[in-house]
Amino acid sequence: MRVSRLDTAEMPDKTAEIDLSLLVDVIEKYRGKKGNLIPVLQSAQDIYGYLPEQAFRMISKELGLKLSDMYGVATFYAQFRLNPVGKNIIKVCHGTACHVQNAKALTVALEDNLGIKDGETTEDNMFTLESVACLGCCSLAPVMMIGEETYGNLDGKAAARVIKQMRKNR
Ligand code: FES
Repeated sequence: MRVSRLDTAEMPDKTAEIDLSLLVDVIEKYRGKKGNLIPVLQSAQDIYGYLPEQAFRMISKELGLKLSDMYGVATFYAQFRLNPVGKNIIKVCHGTACHVQNAKALTVALEDNLGIKDGETTEDNMFTLESVACLGCCSLAPVMMIGEETYGNLDGKAAARVIKQMRKNR
C-alpha cells in the first residue's frame, strides 16, 4: 500500500500516446453497471500500468462518470497510479519498525542516488521510488523491496550498492 499520495495537480503527460482501443472491451463490460467506477479504473490500470489522462476522458465520456469523481477515487485509493512507473519499483518501508530504524534516511539516500523524489520515476524509466506501509518483515528493518526481492537491515550506502548492481546488470 502506498503511503505518500500523488499530488492531484501533478497530471500525467498529456501528449503521451496510448492505445485507447484497448479500453473498448472494458467499457462495454461495465456500461450501465452500478458501482462500476472502481472496477473500471482497476481494469484500465491493469492495461496501461497506470491511469493515463486520455483513459480518464474516454471512460468519463463513454460511461457518463464525472471526471472529478474519477480523479477523487484515483487519488484516494493507494492502489491507483496517475503516472507511469519505471521498470523496477523500489518500495521503501515506512511502517513503524522501519520508521524507528530511520527509513527516512534510506528514502533520502535513494532520492539522492536516483536524482528523483519519492513517488517519481527516473528519466531512463528504470526505477520508481515509493514509500509504502509495512512490508511484513519488520525484524529486518529498515527494509526495501524491489520486485520480489527484499533487502533488510539497510542503510543508504547499502541501498546505493543495490541500485548500482542493478544498473550494471541491466
Ligand atoms: S515496518 Fe517495515 S517491514 Fe514492517
